Amino acid sequence: MRLILLGPPGAGKGTQAQRLIDRFGIPQISTGDILRAAVREGTELGKTAQSYMQAGKLVPDPVVIGIIEERLRAADCAGGFMLDGFPRTVAQADALGDVLGRMGFDVDHVISIDVPNEELVLRLTGRRACKACGSGYHVQFDPPQVAGKCDRCGGELFQREDDQEETIRARLKVYADQTAPLIAYYRTASVLRSVNGLGTMEEIFGRILGAVQD
Ligand code: AP5
Repeated sequence: MRLILLGPPGAGKGTQAQRLIDRFGIPQISTGDILRAAVREGTELGKTAQSYMQAGKLVPDPVVIGIIEERLRAADCAGGFMLDGFPRTVAQADALGDVLGRMGFDVDHVISIDVPNEELVLRLTGRRACKACGSGYHVQFDPPQVAGKCDRCGGELFQREDDQEETIRARLKVYADQTAPLIAYYRTASVLRSVNGLGTMEEIFGRILGAVQD
């Protein structure tokens, strides 16, 4: 299965991606995770990406397209993959279509997760992740058993730098201006399904499964 998870910051793409990986055994490719790892490691890619990410802006298309081209050619993508956070612009979607076309593949499903902006702000301001294993939490909606500690490995939880309210609002504007047009783009290609992103994480997972197994 070749799947794209589309949705604004905080819609639950990463949360649902984890469940989809477990169900379908395909790799999750998150450009956000790849870029954050590059920033942590201080690579050239990280140095280029850091200021854009801190400001809630998109990293330039040629940079992320290059990352994805290389990643899709890895052996573990041969049987399918799930893209989380890519594409985010029409230029990225066109480039993805070209790369997949050269590999002889199509996108099977594009799932757009819809959540109102005020809920997104609540989700993102309360999001925490484990420094050691990356597991995700929410201080109110999915709290750890011990505040500030990961249930799975005991690691310290932290808040992403771009999860401050001002940056979140900038990211939501970037989504509306540059990424939301992809909903019409993929609707035209007849692969898009929109799911309601409000409800429990399990309810939303059920809706996504319904959409991909239809
Ligand atoms: P990226 O890492 O892709 O961030 P994003 O798209 O802004 O999405 P998030 O990771 O913030 O949210 P999510 O939808 O995964 O939500 P989550 O599941 O965590 O990108 C970061 C930056 O990198 C960009 O701003 C840009 O600079 C750069 N970048 C990345 N890709 C790029 C690209 N292709 N082109 C250019 N630049 C790029 O859930 C959020 C919270 O809500 C969690 O705490 C979770 O526990 C909670 N939650 C989830 N579901 C529910 C629910 N049903 N009810 C209650 N709470 C819930």
